[in-house]
Formats: sequence, C-alpha cells, structure tokens
Amino acid sequence: MRLSRAALSLSLGLLLAGTPLLLLSCGSSAQGSPDAAPHVVGPSKEAIGRYILLTSGCNDCHTPGAMEGHLPPESQWLTGTPLGFKGPWGTTYPPNLRLKTVAYTEETFVKAIRQRIGTPTARPPMPWDSLHNMTDANLGALFCYIHSLGPAGSPMPEPRPPNAPPAGPYIPMAPPAIGHGTPATSPATQPTH
Ligand code: HEC
Repeated sequence: MRLSRAALSLSLGLLLAGTPLLLLSCGSSAQGSPDAAPHVVGPSKEAIGRYILLTSGCNDCHTPGAMEGHLPPESQWLTGTPLGFKGPWGTTYPPNLRLKTVAYTEETFVKAIRQRIGTPTARPPMPWDSLHNMTDANLGALFCYIHSLGPAGSPMPEPRPPNAPPAGPYIPMAPPAIGHGTPATSPATQPTH
C-alpha cells in the first residue's frame, strides 16, 4: 500500500503524540523557563541529590571500589577511600561523606562549602568547581541525599601537608615542577640574566 505524503506525516504525528517520552530539540524552551538558572528538578530533594551524585561521578572517589568499576550496594556509598592523592598540595583522601555530613543541616552545609571553595583547604583532586557551580537548592539536595543515607563506615585519613609523608597508599598526581600553584621551575634552577 502506498501512503500519500500527507497521510504519512499524519500517521507519524499520531505515533509521536502517543509516545510518552517526547525528546524536544535542544533549543526548545519547553523544559525550562528562560529566566531560571539551569538546575535539576525532581520529585524530592533526595531524588535530585541522588541524580546529581550519580551523574557527577562523586562515587568514583568517595566510594570504595567505584573507580575500579565495582560499585558496592548503596548502603556503602560515600564511605570514603583510604587511597591518597599526592601532589604539591600534600596528600588528600576522599573523606567519608556519610560521617562528614552528620553535624550539618542543609543550610550550614551549603554555607560551609561556599566558604571553603577558593581557600587553601579546598584541595585537588576534589572537583570543587562542580559544587561551586551548583545552585544552592541543588547543593542542598545533594546534602539531603547524603544525609538520608545515614552515618556508616569509618573516618578516612586527614589531609597531609606538603613534605609530610602520606598516611598510606597513594597515587602520585603531579610532580611538584608542573603542579598546582607551584612555579614551573624553582628559583634555584632558573637561569640568571
Ligand atoms: C577525583 C576524586 C574526587 C571526586 C570525583 C569527588 N571528590 Fe569530593 N573530595 C575528594 C577529596 C580528595 C577530598 C578532600 C579534599 C581536601 O582535603 O581538601 C574531597 C572532599 C569533599 C568534600 C568535603 C568533605 C569535608 O567535610 O571535608 C565534599 C562535601 C565532597 N568532597 C563532595 C563531593 C561530591 C558531592 C562530589 C561529586 C560532585 C565529589 N566530592 C567528587 C575527591 C573527590
């Protein structure tokens, strides 16, 4: 049977109208309003926080096994990893967020994170910029999700200053010569003119 062009587009239209998930073109404003800052929406703060966590790779560093491709059950998520990241900033360890968030409320957490970003206590390789670029509501939702998991696991080692030996196994991230906040050549080896 040959369908005319009009009949074909009509049946395609009906087919699309009956499809529950409609993917609109990227330029469409139908899924947001032009004056709102882009942000994640969802049925609850916890669901929003969980979505952000899963799409931002937070488990990679903060959950044991995740980086090796073995994500443990959700009850063990965000309990931290004792593997250090060593660079010119010293050695940092992805903290146990299940314990670190216990003492906070949503409001004090958002405030504490905002105050810490841009200071020497916001060290690599934690993607602080990701948190910085979240809306307060989305950062708060992230907290609500972590908090809803409840405390679990044990504390991870505290950050070690530069020149102090790491507290255990670590990944060397960058030689001091090309690292974060360190001159490419130390004054002693710079040519004199
Ligand atoms: C590449 C590894 C890595 C990834 C990915 C990562 N983190 Fe971290 N995170 C760290 C490290 C390391 C620290 C400790 C930084 C320091 O001591 O300055 C940290 C610290 C934190 C802290 C501060 C905890 C405290 O109270 O001291 C929070 C909150 C946090 N991360 C949340 C997140 C969230 C949310 C994500 C996902 C958006 C994430 N992290 C992704 C490595 C990572």
